[in-house]
Amino acid sequence: MASNWKPDGWKTFEAKHLPSYLDAGKLAEVEQALSDYPPLVFAGEARALKADLAEVSEGKGFLLQGGDCAESFAEFHPNNIRDTFRVILQMAVVLTFASKQPVVKVGRMAGQFAKPRSSPVEKQGDVELPSYLGDIINGIDFEPAERAHDPARMMRAYSQAAATLNLLRAFAGGGYANLRQVHQWTLDHIGRSPWATRFAETADKISEALDFMEACGVDPGTVPQLQATSFYTSHEALLLPYEQALTRQDSLTGDWYDCSAHMLWIGDRTRFEGSAHVEFLRGVGNPIGMKCGPSLEPDALLRMLHELNPSREAGRITLISRFGHEKVEEGLPKLVRAVKREGHPVVWSCDPMHGNVIKTDSGLKTRPFDRILNEVKGFFAVHRAEGTHAGGIHVEMTGQDVTECTGGAIAITDETLGDRYHTHCDPRLNAAQSIELAFLMADMLNLEANERQKRAA
Ligand code: TRP
Ligand code: MN
Repeated sequence: MASNWKPDGWKTFEAKHLPSYLDAGKLAEVEQALSDYPPLVFAGEARALKADLAEVSEGKGFLLQGGDCAESFAEFHPNNIRDTFRVILQMAVVLTFASKQPVVKVGRMAGQFAKPRSSPVEKQGDVELPSYLGDIINGIDFEPAERAHDPARMMRAYSQAAATLNLLRAFAGGGYANLRQVHQWTLDHIGRSPWATRFAETADKISEALDFMEACGVDPGTVPQLQATSFYTSHEALLLPYEQALTRQDSLTGDWYDCSAHMLWIGDRTRFEGSAHVEFLRGVGNPIGMKCGPSLEPDALLRMLHELNPSREAGRITLISRFGHEKVEEGLPKLVRAVKREGHPVVWSCDPMHGNVIKTDSGLKTRPFDRILNEVKGFFAVHRAEGTHAGGIHVEMTGQDVTECTGGAIAITDETLGDRYHTHCDPRLNAAQSIELAFLMADMLNLEANERQKRAA
């Protein structure tokens, strides 16, 4: 484990994008209360995810990470949790069936509340207020009381995360994720998409395979691998007082884990040398994601890898590239080569969302589906060319029938964007667009597998 590290050691480092809590006494009270609450995940689960990701880093498997840009208190509802979960299951089935490789499922759920913003203040007319930083810090309404940074919001976020995780665990292990249910996961509103038919075909084949196995004497009802799935949680480790309060020493190994989620990632804006966020994550044993954008030079990346994973443990680091559709093929290869040359075992994952935001004439932020798809294609092309494994995808998506990203098979246009635009932050793929993306990625994974076979022959 990391030497010279303490859960509160980050406090002497440069911290960007943290709120300014005016009432220190109230903050201390909340931190104390959270430190006494049960951890949300257990260290052994974080190690299990690390082992799964270690497999992916060796080319055996694929990481599927998805969920809201920002979870909110207002959208907290069992149906929303269920619908996002079922779309992730559908995507996972599509990817597993096509690639014949395991898919590691990680939600951007049960804790994805805090947002880094480009400006600390927002101006509307003559009024200037603190920017919205996510429901765990302040409220989205443009009113002084709402925008004040309030530590008590951490308690509400914790309780929402605990309830969300509880439901996810129930779904993953309690029968909802049973492969026999594969036809039941399709949401009514994606019926209009041509990909709903494709999904039904895949589901038919899976059901047939299960029937066949049953006839052979394997009862799918008693095989745990068919009945249940492992579902992990993740969020950006941004709000350090919250993360620190949920950091615990594992009684089995003595190592520290951030027990607010299985996996934590560090954003493009807090990943710099001397950053408090890097210092914090250095000392926890969880699998760590790191966003890599156009501003990251290979040398800086290698220094970061050394800092966060000095022992080069496989599964510890997932590099999440987010270049934008026009820059990925130019920018990514030099990072991939440096990491390969130095022999760091990482999972390469693609975030095709954050580099592809545009503003429409109506002023709404959107992400054209074509650009998202092109970044994914570019990502796969780079890894094919470099002989490395395109190991994962990181998407902002929801099971709801929103209209936030333009394009897709049921084309959303600039004009219809406003119809159901509900996001608290960035535009998300809706259920139909998510499944479409999974099918298109399945083709790319197959291409990679073919090429690998050819090379081995
Ligand atoms: N346990 C396997 C897995 O998680 C198979 C499986 C069961 C599955 N339910 C699933 C796969 C739902 C995808 C979706 O991969
Ligand atoms: Mn986002």
